[in-house]
Amino acid sequence: MYTFDREAYNRRMAWYTHARFGMFLHWGLYAIPARGEWVRSWEQMPEEQYRPYFDEFNPVDFDARRWARAAKEAGMQYVVLTAKHHDGFCLFDSQYTDWKSTNTPFGRDIVREFVDAVRAEGLHVGLYYSLLDWHHPDFPHRDDENHPDRNNEAVSDEGRDFNRYLEYMHNQVRELCTNYGKLDVLWFDFSYGKLRGEAWKATELVSMVRSLQPDVIIDNRLEVSGEGYGSLASGNPTPYHGDFVSPEQMIPPHGIQDVNGNDIAWESCVTMNGIWGYSATDHYFKPAPMLIKKLVECVSKGGNMLLNVGPDALGDFPPQSTAILKQIGEWMRRNHDSIYGCGRSDLPKPEYGRITANGKDLYFHVYENSIGSLPLVGLTKDQIKSMRYLASGAEVPISTSWTHSDYPEIAFADLGPDPVLPDPVDTVLKVTLR
Ligand code: GLC
Repeated sequence: MYTFDREAYNRRMAWYTHARFGMFLHWGLYAIPARGEWVRSWEQMPEEQYRPYFDEFNPVDFDARRWARAAKEAGMQYVVLTAKHHDGFCLFDSQYTDWKSTNTPFGRDIVREFVDAVRAEGLHVGLYYSLLDWHHPDFPHRDDENHPDRNNEAVSDEGRDFNRYLEYMHNQVRELCTNYGKLDVLWFDFSYGKLRGEAWKATELVSMVRSLQPDVIIDNRLEVSGEGYGSLASGNPTPYHGDFVSPEQMIPPHGIQDVNGNDIAWESCVTMNGIWGYSATDHYFKPAPMLIKKLVECVSKGGNMLLNVGPDALGDFPPQSTAILKQIGEWMRRNHDSIYGCGRSDLPKPEYGRITANGKDLYFHVYENSIGSLPLVGLTKDQIKSMRYLASGAEVPISTSWTHSDYPEIAFADLGPDPVLPDPVDTVLKVTLR
């Protein structure tokens, strides 16, 4: 019988729920065809057509320190890199396969350089590891809804031994948990159909992980996403419960609560354009102002945002990603106190923006100005100890205008005569309560 240790859970989660903002990195051979990380599956590409990318892989511009600095300067506190994606290609020097970066012309252990660079920037380290593997001979090819060879008549599942695959998968997870120092996040992806929970030998897997990395935080995808928020939220945690729920390409309308109505840790993972791995044609990048407001939305609902970058075949970030990260960083430099360590406020969401809260400090995120003074609905002026523009520290007076004298129960902020707000994206008022 599994006993959930709430104290240990809260201890390991503390940095994560404080961090609120991380970078996801999807990188591998698929950056060369440049049609996304599922290219083999979407195009049902046979291995022999994919193999040349392995023989060619030589990302001469790769510099993990540059990636880590970009994450830090954007205000991100943790970085999660695909150590192995569904194509089975390992960005680390695994002793269990030749299908790895150290055997390509590049010849380097990318995970090693990544973890060193991220730690050197003082950020937390995360590794994504795909539970499925389209390269491994013992992973089902025909009897699988995603495998590139699922409809390939020339291929059969005869002789495939799934237990042998599980041994391989567990051995690789052990390598990652043993050879690369302290891991802060282990991001498994993903369970579907009958491949879920104990089909992965998940209890054994997580028990091994926790014995090697006792403080690591694990996502909820050893369980099936899309069928509820997982066993921790349902109040019956399995030994392989996720430590956080991982909504993808969406922000939960009301945050995420467990069966008892208590907020539970969650992280929306979001692409900057429309796809995780590098795409030469998907230029539909979300503007930085939008992503800043989505980060605020996640935090205002008690969650994190993991924002993805898909580096290209040479190891460079797409220029659009670089520009967006720079703009987010400029806002975060002045306003990170309204993100780090913040969460949901009990006050109603204001019409003009959102609220994030950290104890007695409330951060009103003002996206559009009001006519006249700004109503701080839910607060009376007696409750307010101080009010400042977060970005400048300048005092914001509590309004005494007659125009809102019909609303004595509401405090109003006097933002002055200029109808144009100081920050065109998100002007943050820090209201400290008595
Ligand atoms: C989906 C995609 C996968 C990606 C993951 C990130 O599962 O299929 O490619 O790594 O989302 O959350």
